[in-house]
Amino acid sequence: MDQPILETERLILRPFVDGDAPRIAELAGDKSIADTTIRIPHPYSEAMALEWIGTHKAVRGEELALFYAVDLKESGELVGSTGIDIDILHSRATIGYWIGREHWNKGYATEAASILLEYVFNVMKFHKVDSHHFARNPASGRVLEKLGMKREGLLRGHIKKSGVWEDIIEYGILDHEYGQLESSLQRSR
Ligand SMILES: CC(C)(COP(=O)(O)OP(=O)(O)OC[C@H]1O[C@@H](n2cnc3c(N)ncnc32)[C@H](O)[C@@H]1OP(=O)(O)O)[C@@H](O)C(=O)NCCC(=O)NCCS
Repeated sequence: MDQPILETERLILRPFVDGDAPRIAELAGDKSIADTTIRIPHPYSEAMALEWIGTHKAVRGEELALFYAVDLKESGELVGSTGIDIDILHSRATIGYWIGREHWNKGYATEAASILLEYVFNVMKFHKVDSHHFARNPASGRVLEKLGMKREGLLRGHIKKSGVWEDIIEYGILDHEYGQLESSLQRSR
């Protein structure tokens, strides 16, 4: 499966390289990232980041997932990550993201996820993109709303994180809805 570099006004999305491990450990090692993500543990070491990066080629080859580093175009600074888990059988991608705490609320998660969404629908030609967030993490829900995704429901006590059962809110967008969204955006330009 291809993984082209994706570009937005302020960001470059590119595959991770081993040299990113220290920066990932620094950013994702902040407790605020582990707190609202399902898979990121705390503490999160450089060795764990390196091991994670080491899985990317295989999961891409098996069409199971794509992971992108999110860099600021101007400075080259790595500020976060976005990616998709892939379900080929159902032509569906589940989008995820995190942004280093010092860069929150600058629109980076929305900007990065939005170019990935465009890639999934317009190039990969998938049928659906979904995502979910802990009910206590409204900032992520806001990102998904800004992407044009619809809230599909609340899954009670669905995930156990750090020994606590968490409610999950599920979002999704279908290919025809994305097409309508794109044409209405183009009309308003
Ligand atoms: C969730 C996260 C990715 C958002 O990244 P970000 O780059 O700050 O997101 P954006 O700037 O694109 O958008 C954030 C939106 O949430 C809003 N927001 C922030 N805190 C909020 C809160 N407590 N309640 C409601 N909305 C909130 C912001 O105002 C903004 O919306 P606006 O543009 O309408 O003002 C970031 O907080 C993060 O990495 N958190 C830890 C990891 C995580 O939770 N990942 C997602 C797992 S589902």
